Amino acid sequence: MKSRARITAIGAYVPEGKLTNDDLEKMVSTSDEWIFQRTGIKERRIAGKEEYASHLAFRAVENLVERSQKELQDIDGIIVATSTADHAFPSVACQIQHQFQIPATGAFDINAVCAGFTYALHLANTMVTSEVHKKVLVVATETLSKVTDFTDRTTCVLFGDGASAVLVEYDPDQPSFLGVHMGTNGEGGSQLYRTAFADSIHGKELNTSGKMVQNGREVYKWATRTLPDSMEELLQKSNFSKEDIDWFIPHSANMRMVESICEKSGFPLQKTLTSMESFGNTSAASIPLALNIGIKEAKVKNGDTLLLYGFGGGLTHLGLIVKWNID
Ligand SMILES: CC(C)(COP(=O)(O)OP(=O)(O)OC[C@H]1O[C@@H](n2cnc3c(N)ncnc32)[C@H](O)[C@@H]1OP(=O)(O)O)[C@@H](O)C(=O)NCCC(=O)NCCS
Repeated sequence: MKSRARITAIGAYVPEGKLTNDDLEKMVSTSDEWIFQRTGIKERRIAGKEEYASHLAFRAVENLVERSQKELQDIDGIIVATSTADHAFPSVACQIQHQFQIPATGAFDINAVCAGFTYALHLANTMVTSEVHKKVLVVATETLSKVTDFTDRTTCVLFGDGASAVLVEYDPDQPSFLGVHMGTNGEGGSQLYRTAFADSIHGKELNTSGKMVQNGREVYKWATRTLPDSMEELLQKSNFSKEDIDWFIPHSANMRMVESICEKSGFPLQKTLTSMESFGNTSAASIPLALNIGIKEAKVKNGDTLLLYGFGGGLTHLGLIVKWNID
């Protein structure tokens, strides 16, 4: 079905606290050289002790309002993509409804981990295109530092905190959503997980510390094998060629991984936007943060065609072709 929804505004926020590679050298056996060479990450932002996913989300929504002068009162759907919500429940989306006193809206969180933003955008598009909803707020917010094991050098160098928000509004004349492709490889669930319950993935004994656990090498292999073919499928079924894409914005997990995906898929690295160098892997927030960097640097302009591709824990992935045309 042809989309009737347009992304009309964006906002972003990262916490002030910084954790550099030099700082990490003092915490675990690692080096700036190792981290930068293997991941492309220089530093990450870390939420304060009393700062949670909801707080970062509020600041990102405030930033959206400041930049766009958009009205929030007529929002009729709030979707938050997060795997580090303040509480198991209530959802961050309900906290946003309360914070901004939005009078008549649905509100829920989704958990598609690092693919959360593209999943939430896809949902918002289908809600608005169905004409049941007119204006949906999509927020990606993460405080991964709160679930990172800072004694495990194989994961603690990777992750950071941040948030971003976009509005998806009814606009049948200039739709943003031109293609979608998604997939799931649930058999890889135990390669990247965080749990409080044991033995739920393939009967395996799991680490129940509540911290993230990852087999980095396996996740790396899965992503660099899966993405190039999936991007090709997305382009083909949406009748686009690589040359039509102005900016490729993959999940910013690791620069080396992005380089490998670009090489295998034939996408020029110069037309790729990432956010991991300054923010680390911010899971659901990484794609809109990279997009926001592209806007601030005057790279992304109205009229551009973007290929956004989220992938991560699940294992799951979702790619979108988006016409960028904000108010
Ligand atoms: C985590 C990752 C950077 C590790 O890089 P790698 O090249 O695969 O490294 P390996 O895991 O094979 O480890 C190589 C060596 O470096 C060591 N090492 C791991 N982390 C290290 C660190 N922070 N500093 C220094 N050495 C480290 C390992 O212990 C290993 O040492 P050994 O050979 O003596 O056993 C990489 O696998 C990766 O980026 N994976 C994807 C992770 C990701 O993006 N996940 C999120 C997806 S949404």
